[in-house]
Amino acid sequence: MHIGNKQLFLEQVTSTNDIAWHHASNAEHDGLMVVACEQTAGRGRRGDLWLSPPGSALYLSMLLHPDLAYRRPVMLTIWAGLGVCRMIERTLALKPQLKWPNDVLIQGKKVCGILVEQRQEWFVVGVGINVHVPIESFQHAGINQAGSLADFTQQPLNRLELLTHLQTEWNELFVMLTSGKNSQLLGLWHSYNGLIGQFVKLEARGKQLTGKLRLLSWDEITIESDDKLIALPPEVVTKVELS
Ligand code: BTN
Repeated sequence: MHIGNKQLFLEQVTSTNDIAWHHASNAEHDGLMVVACEQTAGRGRRGDLWLSPPGSALYLSMLLHPDLAYRRPVMLTIWAGLGVCRMIERTLALKPQLKWPNDVLIQGKKVCGILVEQRQEWFVVGVGINVHVPIESFQHAGINQAGSLADFTQQPLNRLELLTHLQTEWNELFVMLTSGKNSQLLGLWHSYNGLIGQFVKLEARGKQLTGKLRLLSWDEITIESDDKLIALPPEVVTKVELS
């Protein structure tokens, strides 16, 4: 399987995730990438809308039918986020941050969000990257924490070029993931969140915990609090940030 072995470029869609879902169930479509210029009903996490003005961002979805061991939203979210971070670092020489569970930030501004949806054995990994969304669009929508890649670069950005780089990164990382190079991937992940060994605030099952972050992996998140180690399944952790 090769991510983006087939690509569908569309002008306007409700959500690229919706279009990707139309192609599920057919093994030939494993790896399909759907890209749109504009979304009229872009979906964010927790049922939020994802602001999707035309022509100024990348809106894309990858349809995947992974082997059993990789059918985990947490894993696919991290994999997708790492690909975005590497693309940003390698092509734009910026230092992005990967904030649990699925936000890519630059200097504290969210430039990318990831939404993974699952239906039985199939997954759609939806990625929205603000490339040069006018700041007024965010202000108008009352979103203060958002930014665009172009806010941090001196050069004009070409969305198609960024897409090509993204595809390369996602394919490389997918090979890493599926060839058991977990420690390499986790190391990369730690380099983009810088949280290991730090005092963090963590939210899980509606409760807040604070302590030193000891382990951050897709199998377990562990913090040390009052000399006790508390291990949590990543699926229940909704927030991890510096305390
Ligand atoms: C988040 O809330 O942070 C996740 C946002 C994910 C947005 C992307 S844009 C492309 C794909 N299609 C959607 O409807 N949502 C995702």
